[in-house]
Amino acid sequence: MNIQSANELRSLFLRFFEEKGHARIPSASVIPENDPTVLFTTAGMHPLVPYLMGEKHPMGTRLTDVQKCIRTGDIDDVGDPSHLTFFEMLGNWSLGDYFKKEMIPWSWEFLTSKDWLGLDPDKLAFTVFEGDQDAPRDEEAANLWRAQGVKDDHLFYLPKKHNWWGPAGITGPCGPDTEMFIIRDQPPCGPDCSPACSCGRYLEIWNDVFMQYEKQADGTFVPLKQKNVDTGMGLERTYCVLMGAGTVYETEIFSGIIGKIEELSGRKYGQDPSPFASSPTTCVPLPSSSATTGA
Ligand code: ALA
Repeated sequence: MNIQSANELRSLFLRFFEEKGHARIPSASVIPENDPTVLFTTAGMHPLVPYLMGEKHPMGTRLTDVQKCIRTGDIDDVGDPSHLTFFEMLGNWSLGDYFKKEMIPWSWEFLTSKDWLGLDPDKLAFTVFEGDQDAPRDEEAANLWRAQGVKDDHLFYLPKKHNWWGPAGITGPCGPDTEMFIIRDQPPCGPDCSPACSCGRYLEIWNDVFMQYEKQADGTFVPLKQKNVDTGMGLERTYCVLMGAGTVYETEIFSGIIGKIEELSGRKYGQDPSPFASSPTTCVPLPSSSATTGA
């Protein structure tokens, strides 16, 4: 599929999931309604929390949308090639409907099929939850990726810090996730280079969360009454990859605003010394998995 604009990417994602029986819902406000646990809507799942907890959604058990998000947890990374404070998240949800064995093949299809994004499978890497006292090692997700043809050297088991998402606030629905990365055209930063490091070789574009626990105020995790799927694909990052742009700022999504800033400031984008010149060349842990789709 030859994508020519960010709007085509939005439409393609929504159409893919509509073809899989999902109802399209509008983006909610970035100011959460009736929710004291967060200041802003930080992810597409946030407005859906009551439904992830078991309430019936009027549009059914399969939903898709493009949610506007504001995320400040990773604000120190904003300005690097891939992090933004305000971004759009392409998402789909199973509210107690399908789970891993449907979602992982769909993710593979959307990423690699020539009818959809058509990304080169050799340029993709995947992470799954390595397991701990709260939830088991996610061999099911790993085996589902292997069944799509993913080689073991493109599959990484990582701890909760990287492969667990949520809750969005202090309490609420959460679970292990599997994350999808583009392998960028730069060599590994060392023998331990992996999607857990921030050297820039691996760029996360999509996260499938298998949301089946509720985190309690005392820090314990109890199973939810239904197993949900919550996914988030960063619009700006994925579009940047599809366009072959160097950073999320260098696509048509930002060209208008950057042009206006150039006009008002009398300065040209990219003419100052690049802040990326001092990018880390060794593996540095990412802050947390919840920050990584902050495309
Ligand atoms: N809620 C998940 C995220 O924001 C999909 O990464």
